[in-house]
Amino acid sequence: MRSALFSVLGALLLAHDVTAQQSVVVPGFKNTKWVLKSEGGSNYACKCHPGDWCWPTSAQWQQLNASVGGNLHINIPPGAPCYNTFEGPLGTINTYDAAKCAEVTANWNSEQFQVELPTAGLWTYFTNDTCRPTTNPSDTCTLGYYPVMVIMAKTIDHIKAGVNFARTHNLRLIIRNTGHDFLGRSVGWGSLVINTHSFQNIKFHNKYTASCGYKGPAVTLGAGVQAFKVLEQAHALNPPKLMLTGECATVGVAGGLVQGGGHGPLTNFYGFLADTALEFKVITADGYLRTVNERAHPDLFWALRGGGPGAFAVIVEATFKLFDDKPSAGITLDINSAHTTNETLFWEAVRIFHSYSTHFVDNNIYVYYELGAGGLNLHVRPIVGIGKTLAELQAIVQPLFDDLNALGITYDTESHSFNTFYELYNNMFETEVAGNSALTGGWTLAREDVVANHTAVIEAFKKVVAAGSFMVGHMWSAGQNLPRSEWHKSAINPRFRHVVDKLITIVPIGGNAPLADKEEAQHRLTYVVDGALREASPNGCAYINEADPFQPNWQQAFWGTNYPRLQQIKKKYDPEGLFYTVSTPGTERWSQIETGTRLCYKL
Ligand SMILES: Cc1cc2nc3c(=O)[nH]c(=O)nc-3n(C[C@H](O)[C@H](O)[C@H](O)COP(=O)(O)OP(=O)(O)OC[C@H]3O[C@@H](n4cnc5c(N)ncnc54)[C@H](O)[C@@H]3O)c2cc1C
Ligand SMILES: *[C@@H]1O[C@H](CO)[C@@H](O)[C@H](O)[C@H]1NC(C)=O
Ligand SMILES: *[C@@H]1O[C@H](CO)[C@@H](O)[C@H](O)[C@H]1NC(C)=O
Ligand SMILES: *[C@@H]1O[C@H](CO)[C@@H](O)[C@H](O)[C@H]1NC(C)=O
Ligand SMILES: *[C@@H]1O[C@H](CO)[C@@H](O)[C@H](O)[C@H]1NC(C)=O
Repeated sequence: MRSALFSVLGALLLAHDVTAQQSVVVPGFKNTKWVLKSEGGSNYACKCHPGDWCWPTSAQWQQLNASVGGNLHINIPPGAPCYNTFEGPLGTINTYDAAKCAEVTANWNSEQFQVELPTAGLWTYFTNDTCRPTTNPSDTCTLGYYPVMVIMAKTIDHIKAGVNFARTHNLRLIIRNTGHDFLGRSVGWGSLVINTHSFQNIKFHNKYTASCGYKGPAVTLGAGVQAFKVLEQAHALNPPKLMLTGECATVGVAGGLVQGGGHGPLTNFYGFLADTALEFKVITADGYLRTVNERAHPDLFWALRGGGPGAFAVIVEATFKLFDDKPSAGITLDINSAHTTNETLFWEAVRIFHSYSTHFVDNNIYVYYELGAGGLNLHVRPIVGIGKTLAELQAIVQPLFDDLNALGITYDTESHSFNTFYELYNNMFETEVAGNSALTGGWTLAREDVVANHTAVIEAFKKVVAAGSFMVGHMWSAGQNLPRSEWHKSAINPRFRHVVDKLITIVPIGGNAPLADKEEAQHRLTYVVDGALREASPNGCAYINEADPFQPNWQQAFWGTNYPRLQQIKKKYDPEGLFYTVSTPGTERWSQIETGTRLCYKL
């Protein structure tokens, strides 16, 4: 198979050499490698994709391969071993391999399996759901929106080489770490990927002195380190330490999580992960390695803390504050069709549960819950008290149970206590699956709106579920205990300091569904589902990492008053738009035309 790959690459790429003399001047850009297109009455200058005159020659790819130590690969979708052939943009390749097909089929829904693949998107909608594992090898396997080429970077020089190559040839560049991105930012049609997952270094510091004045425990993480790894090692310290990560153990901490902000069970105490970041090492769009902190490139430091994933630079490593772990307790609550099939009663129970959101946040309690998955289903797992005994947590939660008892509804509940939050995290949070296809959106409820009209919030929840969506809720406030003087230090929307519930909405839809169905689902998500939540909480905001890619008024929704500064920083560090990710600062004139394929700049 390898030699077949090689000759295909050679033949197809050499074909472009003949026309490689052209150049196109686009006002505002130094680069002259563009392809001009028009669609819907607008003109566009597009990046270079396979088949274009400016797509690199085979000799140029081989040069790149040499400079990345042979770690450049033609990307083949993970399901390809189940098909006789893969029909890629670089030609047809024989791919059938029964053993590999069995492996990918068995592991399709395993997060870690997908994480370890060079380019897979865990949320398969954004791969166009192409080439899924099948039992029918004569079906067609195409690339869909999976990238074309991938560098499995092992060193800083490999990243630099990839950045310089993509900039020089005006390619669409994607930085990929674990593939968790809910908006498909770690895959992209016609692109070159730099995969940073092999940067797995972890270094603990007892007394770290940061440029911002912080002196205390910290940890430096390579870009590829996933939450479970650092949490496990921090727990083994004496005394055990914690860092702020998301509820999901497989997310990459120093990749997309910190750049989007990063909220989790510790958010009531310390804000976002971005608020705990002390320093970054990055490769900027000019190909240089830079140390970035409150003294060196303070503007970029601020932007990397919540200003948008994959939008400003490639992160090589990042340093974060560490905290003491504490005894913790957790309680669960389940109400579903086993308890009632009476919709009125069910929604009354939901109203009661949710009316405690301000009470929970006021008491520094974090709550993770799912609503509406498979019908009348409220799954609260867990309600978390960090630094609280079970008795203390029970005292806080008891009024909720008293109200549910008075309503006359039955439910299931469990209570557990642990010596550390780490143990609670491993025992009470559920593992998630990969390989599902859906559109996600979301909105965050402002405390003032929840207090002013809670009825409107519950009416909106009903509309969300009636529209075929379900929700994941996270009760916290990023301003609960973080001192006000720290709030401006990260780029997240200042509105997150005054919220009580961050919601993700999920509309299941196949990435290979007919285009009309996809459009309908997208419209429903944006305007019916999220529209209802926005209306119920006009003072709320949206979270760039768990959001609708077509969030209306996205600049304001994601960053609020911080947006203009982010836009300027983007212009300063990435003037040619090398780092494109959807709905991030400065991307106003960029879009994927021709049904979500070519990445183009509107002229
Ligand atoms: C099951 C699940 C649970 C989640 N739970 C939470 C949660 O509790 N809290 C929370 O805040 N978020 C949560 N998220 C969202 C999560 O924050 C984002 O998906 C995040 O962007 C993942 O980052 P990654 O690097 O692991 O993923 P990737 O998909 O690999 O990358 C995500 C984005 O970051 C960019 N990126 C990755 N690595 C680098 C790098 N080295 N340099 C520059 N850019 C890079 C990519 O280009 C892409 O735009 C969850 C997501 C999932 C799927
Ligand atoms: C890059 O080089 C390695 C090692 O020589 C080789 O295995 C691989 O196929 C090459 N990649 C491409 C795209 O040619
Ligand atoms: C993506 O899927 C749609 C159907 O949903 C199809 O019309 C389109 O051709 C596909 N595009 C690619 C690049 O695979
Ligand atoms: C459903 O629950 C509501 C609220 O408790 C109650 O008023 C109503 O009678 C119930 N309906 C049925 C059919 O039991
Ligand atoms: C609360 O919201 C509901 C539903 O949107 C609305 O009908 C009602 O008038 C609102 N009440 C107040 C006090 O604003």
